[in-house]
Amino acid sequence: MIDFQGIINNIHNNLSKEEVKGVVASYIPELFKQTTNSFGIYLHCINGESYAVGDAYTPFSIQSISKVLALSKAIAFEDNNIWQRVDVEPSGNPFNHLSLLELENGIPRNPLINSGALVIADILVTHLKNPKKDFLNYVRTIANDQTINYNTDVAASEKRTGYTNYAAANLLKSFNNLNNNVEDVLDFYFHQCSIDMSCAQLANAFYLFANSGKCINHIQHIPISQAKRINAIMLTCGFYDEAGEFAFRVGLPGKSGVGGGIVALLPNNFIISTWAPGLNPKGNSLLGMQALEQFTTETKISIF
Ligand code: DON
Repeated sequence: MIDFQGIINNIHNNLSKEEVKGVVASYIPELFKQTTNSFGIYLHCINGESYAVGDAYTPFSIQSISKVLALSKAIAFEDNNIWQRVDVEPSGNPFNHLSLLELENGIPRNPLINSGALVIADILVTHLKNPKKDFLNYVRTIANDQTINYNTDVAASEKRTGYTNYAAANLLKSFNNLNNNVEDVLDFYFHQCSIDMSCAQLANAFYLFANSGKCINHIQHIPISQAKRINAIMLTCGFYDEAGEFAFRVGLPGKSGVGGGIVALLPNNFIISTWAPGLNPKGNSLLGMQALEQFTTETKISIF
């Protein structure tokens, strides 16, 4: 029997003492209100057991982590048709990089970089009757939690400063890879990124990816084969130009967000989420990556 609680307590305790905690994102001004002192870890095992330490129940801005949830909903609508509009190759570039998009004729490298997530947002705006309301309901359903909500201050803050996302959306539109209005797609995208969730809520929402497409309430949201694909995309593309480093150090599929959250999982086994707002130079949570590396090293469980 592995002492999961003891292991995450130790990791939390040791890393909390680190002096270098990374830098809080400031390009979305509202996110800069966070401090590097917040730190939570939550582990949810497929058998139902869960373990928490630190700020595991405090909601924070999930940002790019939402891209995985949006992708799962788009796949539920369009199945493999979506791969005509977005590729599945790692980009080796930052999340907001634009020049590859132009070179590759408006087909984003993958659905987890910003341009790819904008194509996914476009698909959801097309299929959902009330896109923002229906997407939030989907997230609440898979997380089994009706309290989850948008943070409209964060969405408005990103809208005010989101010049690169405006550029990406316009470029996609010029290549005929957006069917809806640029404004409508961006409004949806800024809202999906602004959702506030805690480590515990994120681990519950990601249960379906660790459980062959079935959420904690045993509803099959995506086929097993698509859960496999989403996990593969998280492993190869979930950390942008640091995806290789994350696979090398942690050895799990996962996704980060500039709010400081990370969710990672081992299919059929567990989901683990961390929140520490200080980011490393690649935009991924500094303490979060260290915590996950220590977790898979100490427990000796990873996909490899
Ligand atoms: O579009 C953006 O720039 C943000 N809403 C999300 C970026 C993000 O979280 C990148 N992740 N590490």
